[in-house]
Amino acid sequence: MCGTGSDDVLHLAANAFSGPGDEIIYVRYGFAVYDIAARRYGGTPIVADDADYGTDVDAILAKVNDNTRVIFIANPNNPTGTLTSGEEIARLQKSLPGNVLLVLDGAYTEYLEEDEDDGALELAKSKSNVLVTRTFSKIHGLAAERIGWGYASENIIGAMNRIKLPFNVTTAGQAAALEALSADDFVASSREHNQKWRQWLSDELGALGNHGLRVIPSHTNFLLVLFEGKVTAEHANSALMEKGYAVRWLPGQGLVTGLRITIGTEEETRGLARALREILEAAG
Ligand SMILES: Cc1ncc(COP(=O)(O)O)c(C=O)c1O
Repeated sequence: MCGTGSDDVLHLAANAFSGPGDEIIYVRYGFAVYDIAARRYGGTPIVADDADYGTDVDAILAKVNDNTRVIFIANPNNPTGTLTSGEEIARLQKSLPGNVLLVLDGAYTEYLEEDEDDGALELAKSKSNVLVTRTFSKIHGLAAERIGWGYASENIIGAMNRIKLPFNVTTAGQAAALEALSADDFVASSREHNQKWRQWLSDELGALGNHGLRVIPSHTNFLLVLFEGKVTAEHANSALMEKGYAVRWLPGQGLVTGLRITIGTEEETRGLARALREILEAAG
């Protein structure tokens, strides 16, 4: 099914499969929409512990009980950029009761290398309790067109379709998405650019470790950078803003020490690294 962004599909999943008294699990530092979607339909959000900012399958399994209805996992995850292996995802699915819906949110899948595939689509094809969501908002650059999709067994998609609002994706969004599907060169060059500059920025910021910076290894088009020294993430955020760089400080998601920095053009990425170095060096 398509939706007005994969966000729409995530909400439909929570709406169709949970309600008051039901529990929805996601991992600490998971995508912010999971909490909103869980509460919106009266369910109870349950947060599983992370493993050094990544998804911990055992911590999720420890939270599963008779009230569990939905588990949301972004793989790779926003805002941490972490990736959970296909083996771990398969182990999670295998350990779940059949009436628990496992939602595998692949908003950033296209940024992965071929050998990093987490097998989500294959699982959705063969298991009746797995829903994969994908989007045209990230590597395809069509966020404002609001178009995403979900893939799952007929029962799951059928239940979601029955409650979906009748007026949904726009004609322009559909046309743009269809064009994007044949723009292989654009996707390949975006992935290549992202890999090159993500590595470059990661190395540059990693070299600022003496200022207390820690970069979480990323599989997406952004880096989560932790500020564990004298300069706080809050200060770096406002100082970067003054220099013309908009990054994301994430206190609302429990990441008071974190900035999420998106990979931009070469000029933007070099400029950001220079600006951040100046901010840290000015603080001594
Ligand atoms: C992990 C993840 N899933 C889903 C979405 C929703 O994207 P959209 O509704 O634009 O498809 C986002 C957007 O930030 C995201 O980061």
